[in-house]
Amino acid sequence: MTTVVQVRNVSKRFVVHKDKSLKERVVNAHSSRLHREDFWALRDVNLDVGLGETIGLVGANGSGKSTLLKIIGGILTPDGGSAKVRGRLAALLELGAGFHPDLTGRENIFLNAAILGLGEAETQRHFDEIVAFSGIEDFIDTQVKFYSSGMYVRLAFSVAVHVDPDILLVDEVLAVGDEPFQHKCMEKIHEFQADGRTIILVSHSAAQVSEVCDRAVMLEHGKVVVDGSTDEVLGRLRHNYEVTIEADEAAQAERRGEVPAAKPAEQHITSVGIEAPTEDGKAVLAPGDDLVIRGTIDAEPPLIGWGMSLTVSTILGGAVLGTDTKMMGTELPVIDGAGQFEVVLPRLMLGEGEYSVSLSLLDGNLNEIHRLREAGRFVVRTPGHAVGAVYSEPVLRVEQRA
Ligand SMILES: Nc1ncnc2c1ncn2[C@@H]1O[C@H](COP(=O)(O)OP(=O)(O)O)[C@@H](O)[C@H]1O
Ligand SMILES: [Mg+2]
Repeated sequence: MTTVVQVRNVSKRFVVHKDKSLKERVVNAHSSRLHREDFWALRDVNLDVGLGETIGLVGANGSGKSTLLKIIGGILTPDGGSAKVRGRLAALLELGAGFHPDLTGRENIFLNAAILGLGEAETQRHFDEIVAFSGIEDFIDTQVKFYSSGMYVRLAFSVAVHVDPDILLVDEVLAVGDEPFQHKCMEKIHEFQADGRTIILVSHSAAQVSEVCDRAVMLEHGKVVVDGSTDEVLGRLRHNYEVTIEADEAAQAERRGEVPAAKPAEQHITSVGIEAPTEDGKAVLAPGDDLVIRGTIDAEPPLIGWGMSLTVSTILGGAVLGTDTKMMGTELPVIDGAGQFEVVLPRLMLGEGEYSVSLSLLDGNLNEIHRLREAGRFVVRTPGHAVGAVYSEPVLRVEQRA
């Protein structure tokens, strides 16, 4: 495959000026350099993007996604390594980048198009289309400083997609527009894909990444931690979110003076496993297989009149199945000390993809005693005769009628 974006060992350093206290400022009046600190926003990043690929760039806030896009876009220069790009590039980076606030929308179209390498005559030819796509005809002769962020994005996106780029960089901006516009943008992105253009998309929406990207790359503290299928990367991202949420909840509970959550409650799930053949360490099921989850419990003091709940979710976080002992109408025996359990979901017909299982122990009032958000994870592989959240082997009959 032809590589159109080649990032090699890219590092980017920012100098951070730490805010000093007034006292420090007085005492160290002549040594202000002491409070400059180097901060590596990117470290040794490698990325190859092939012609016609759509790559999703994901990661927590501050992980370096925008910095990487700006380096690819040539707006920032790396402090180490290199970024090479083949073809005409259009970048939709931070809000309003490339726009002059005092100029009107009309003037900015010409300015922006020129920056992206389009001549005046060419821009003139596309002008009506650009304005029509943006949907802001009424404001085209208004200075853009009076635009809302949504209007900015509409215009910027519209220019970017009409300058005939080979490579399109999109940094989160799609989240700013309203829904009909987002829909239009996604259509345009699909059209670009069909044309064989290359796209790098930074998005907070796992659904969006999953919908349009062939591959995804996850950054963490300026380093690439996963580069693989969107399923794999989004699964990892989901896992990190769960861990962060758990840590936040624990910190909050501690502030409220509750039991330090780092230490599990006295009654808790000690181990869980999914009974299935594994592939790369992941349980793999086929549609129609039983999902069998087994685990152990520590119960001191004893669990009496207790319950359990279980949720199976997609990597996008949507629950596909949830149940608890109350819904099942099941009463659980007293467990004193150690216990074990088995949950079976017979003949699960899930669609292709990765799923996670969360399990909870409940008290008599269905309050959670202990929750394992990531109790297990499994992959469903289907014969691929259908897509979607559930799988069924389609049967089609067509006959000539007399
Ligand atoms: N111009 C800058 N000066 C100093 N620090 C910066 C600058 N730009 C970005 N950073 C820092 O670099 C890190 C990565 O930022 P960024 O690439 O914007 O992350 P992301 O887009 O993933 O949220 C952050 O910690 C951010 O504060
Ligand atoms: Mg960013």
